[in-house]
Parts: sequence; C-alpha cells; structure tokens
Amino acid sequence: MVDRSDVGNLVGIDDIAVYVPRLFISAVKEFASSRGIEPGKLTKGIGVENMAVPDFHEDAATMAAMSVLELMKRNELRPDQVGRIYVGTESGVDESKAIGTYVIGMLEKVYGKGRFQECSTVEFKFACIGATHALENVAYWLKSQDWCNFGQGNDEGSDSDICDDMVGIVVASDIARYDLKSPGEYTQGAGSVSLLIKKNPRLIAFDPAMGVFTKDENDFFRPIGMKTAVVDGKYSNLCYLSAMEGAFESYKKRALNRKMICPKEDECVTDYLSHIIFHIPYPRMAEYASAALFRKEWGELSRWNAIEEEIGKEPISKDFEGDGEFFRAKNDYNRRFSKTRAFLEAYEKKVKPSTIISAHIGNIYTGSIYLGLASLFEERKLFSGERVGFGSYGSGCSAIFFSGVVQPGIESLQTGGLKRRLDARTETSLKDYELLHEGERKESVIVPSKEFALIKIDQDGYRHYDFVD
Ligand code: CAA
Repeated sequence: MVDRSDVGNLVGIDDIAVYVPRLFISAVKEFASSRGIEPGKLTKGIGVENMAVPDFHEDAATMAAMSVLELMKRNELRPDQVGRIYVGTESGVDESKAIGTYVIGMLEKVYGKGRFQECSTVEFKFACIGATHALENVAYWLKSQDWCNFGQGNDEGSDSDICDDMVGIVVASDIARYDLKSPGEYTQGAGSVSLLIKKNPRLIAFDPAMGVFTKDENDFFRPIGMKTAVVDGKYSNLCYLSAMEGAFESYKKRALNRKMICPKEDECVTDYLSHIIFHIPYPRMAEYASAALFRKEWGELSRWNAIEEEIGKEPISKDFEGDGEFFRAKNDYNRRFSKTRAFLEAYEKKVKPSTIISAHIGNIYTGSIYLGLASLFEERKLFSGERVGFGSYGSGCSAIFFSGVVQPGIESLQTGGLKRRLDARTETSLKDYELLHEGERKESVIVPSKEFALIKIDQDGYRHYDFVD
C-alpha cells in the first residue's frame, strides 16, 4: 500500500473509455490457413486471437470521437468543462489540420455548434508513444497553478470553482496496418481509448517521477503518402527492449532520488510495482519486456542464485568467438530465464492480466498501453493503494516509464462493459477484410447506426462526418 501525503494536489486518470470497431477477423481460422501459419504460432507465439477491423466509414477521427463521446456521456461532462482534447495518433487523416478539430466537429453534432469553442486541441505524433506525451502535457496543464488566469471555464463563480471543474481528455486513436501477407499482418488492430484527466482522480494519481529514453532509430516508420508501415520487425523488438530498459533506469534513478520508492535490503523497485503495463504491439512483447526488466533488477539480488541454479550462469562475451555466437547464447539464456518459475510467477501476477483484452483487438498503437489499463480495470484487478508502472514505447524511437497509485475512488467506478461489446462484434470474412485493407471496398460491411461515420471526402480532400442515428 502506498501512502500519498499530497492528497488534494493529485492529478491523474479519472475514467477510461474504449472504442473498438464492430468488425473483427479471427486470426486462427481462415486467416491463418490462407497465410500458411499454424494457429498455435499466433495464439501462443504472438498472443493474438482476433484483430479489430475498421469498417469503410471508420477512421482514426471517428474512433476518437466515439470514445470521447462515451467518456463525456458516462461522466455527464459539459463541453465548457473540457479545456483540452489532446489526441495521440500516427494514423492522422490530414498533413496539416489537427485531427482533434474533426473530433470536435463531430462532438458538436451531438452537443451543439460552438460548444467546444474554448477547448484546445493538438495532435501528438510519435508512433505508439504519442498519447503518453499528450497525457504528460494535459497533466502539466492541470497541475499548473495559474492556468485559470487564461480565462478558461465559465465566468460565474470563484476561480477555485473554475479550476476544480475543468478537465482534460487524452485520446489515443489508431489503425495498425501492415502489408497483406507480411509478418506484421497478424499484429494489426484498430481502436481508440479516451482518458479523463482530472484533479483528485478516481482511478490513478500520477507519481512525481518519469523516466525517458530517446534515440534516432529506423525500426519502424511510415513515409508521407504510404498507407502501411515500413518495419524491420525483429529489430523493432530489440529497439523496444533497449529503450524500455533505458527509460526504466531513468525512472528508477528519479524514483529513488525522490525517495518515492525506498527498497529494503535485497529488494528492488519492481517489487514495489503491483502491476506493470507495457506498450502491447502483441501480447508476447509485454512478456519479453518484463523478462528484460526483471532480469536486470533481480541480477543484483540474492534471489538470482536460485535462478542460476535453475538455468546456469549468464553468458559473457569473452567466452565466445564472435558476436553472432554470443548473441545466440544470450538469446537462449533469456529464453530460459523466461521459463523459470520465479519469472513466470511475477509475470502472471504483475504483467499478463493487462494483455488479456489486446489478444482480442490487436495492436492499437498509441492506445495499446491504455487498453492494458482498461483490461486490468475490466478484470477488476486494480485495488486502492497499489502502485502501477507504465512502460510506453514509440518506434523511431522513445520510451517513457512512469507510475501512479490506484485511488480509493476506483471502487465507485463502473467498468465500460468492454468484454460484452467484444463478444457482440461481427466476424468479417477474409475477402471483406482484404478489400477494406486495400481500400477496394466502397461501402460499409455493417451499415453505420448510432455512431460517428465518415460520410464523404470532397474534391478538395475535406472530410465530412456525421452522427448517424
Ligand atoms: N507454436 C507456438 N509458438 C510458435 C510457433 C508455433 N507453431 N511457431 C513460432 N512460434 C513462436 C516463435 O518461437 C516466437 O516465439 P519466441 O520469441 O518465444 O521464440 C514467436 O512465435 C514469434 O515468431 P517469430 O520469431 O517467427 O516472429 P515473426 O516472424 O512471426 O515476427 C514480429 C514477429 C517481428 C513481431 C512481426 O509480427 C512484426 O514485424 N510485427 C510488427 C512490428 C512489431 O509489432 N514490433 C514490436 C516492437 S515495435 C513496437 O512495439 C511499436 C509498434 O507498436 C509497432
């Protein structure tokens, strides 16, 4: 249990809403057989069962608007309370116009014209870490003491009333799309997650420590005009792991310096994290990331002796002829570590529950880590006082590690019924999936109803959206 003496000055995530397209494709049926892949490779080796498929009328903007609308309705938010809608996405619909303006346009179809006039919106692009940067910025905005001097909120009431009432929304919305028949294809997905950011939140209050790692890398990118990512899959896994280790070390240094976490003798920082939610491009990646962090932390503790008894000593480069042989030996050692009882126990308890829902949606890029939070919340695995670590990664590349403490308000929060909605989805045929993927299907598979939809793109390229009843 974590004691927070700064209650009253906390900022964090108050509620979470997830939108997932109504179409999905099973990874293990027609898809697997048509690609000549053994289903076990996808369910066990990758960790994916189903992938969400955006319909013809859906894009990153409609999906973003859907999760914001759900968040606003569930929390009975007024538009004038929402000071920020910051959108993280790498599936932007325009090279210049911020996606949030389209989102606001759609929301105003429901709430009335001009109702979001005083709300700022910016698009944050940095592969899968964009929404985490948006989150950091909205949190700073709420934390800053003099923001209400900028005239936010209504003109009635005292300044403190205005400050207490204002909220920010962070939206992560993406379509993960790779070339058909490529190794990336079975790690696709689509969806959006909206986070309500508030003072004195009910779900998670952020800790005052954040670790960052940034490096220029070419593991994954999408040049202007291209519809699918250029990706060196195996290399991207390595970049993810090395950036995550770097960000965690940076976080650890800060958390220890601030005495936010004070490990006792023979303990480590991850012992004080009840859950660690990683970016989940596919569920197995979260397992690789936790193996890397636990191995690094535990290697300095007495518990490592029992692990060495089980899997032997870690290979050292001077014992090998060339780099290739050394890396193979190291890889093999890592694999053996990830099969140890101690690792599996920690992984099953602290990390795996956050990957459950991703296995049925696929990669939603910048929202994946927050889908992990929704997964824990839906499964009712979060308890007041627990500290949760977040390991966010964006290719190109950067990682951020931060943490927060689950708040007592979680007990009063209703889950969004996400599992029920996933069960109600429609399975698409391989043919329709491929036509939608290639932009060759010119009408929706499911006629839009009670949702935002892209109605047309006019001759200037301007996108027209509406709420379809
Ligand atoms: N039964 C069970 N497991 C099997 C199996 C079978 N029949 N056949 C293979 N496997 C296992 C393999 O042993 C392997 O597991 P281990 O690592 O434990 O050995 C696992 O399945 C994966 O198989 P491969 O090593 O053959 O990998 P692959 O060629 O399928 O490629 C990938 C995997 C690189 C992730 C590829 O899907 C890809 O390029 N994806 C897109 C990029 C990506 O997601 N990168 C992640 C890091 S970057 C990031 O996080 C940003 C982002 O969102 C993109």
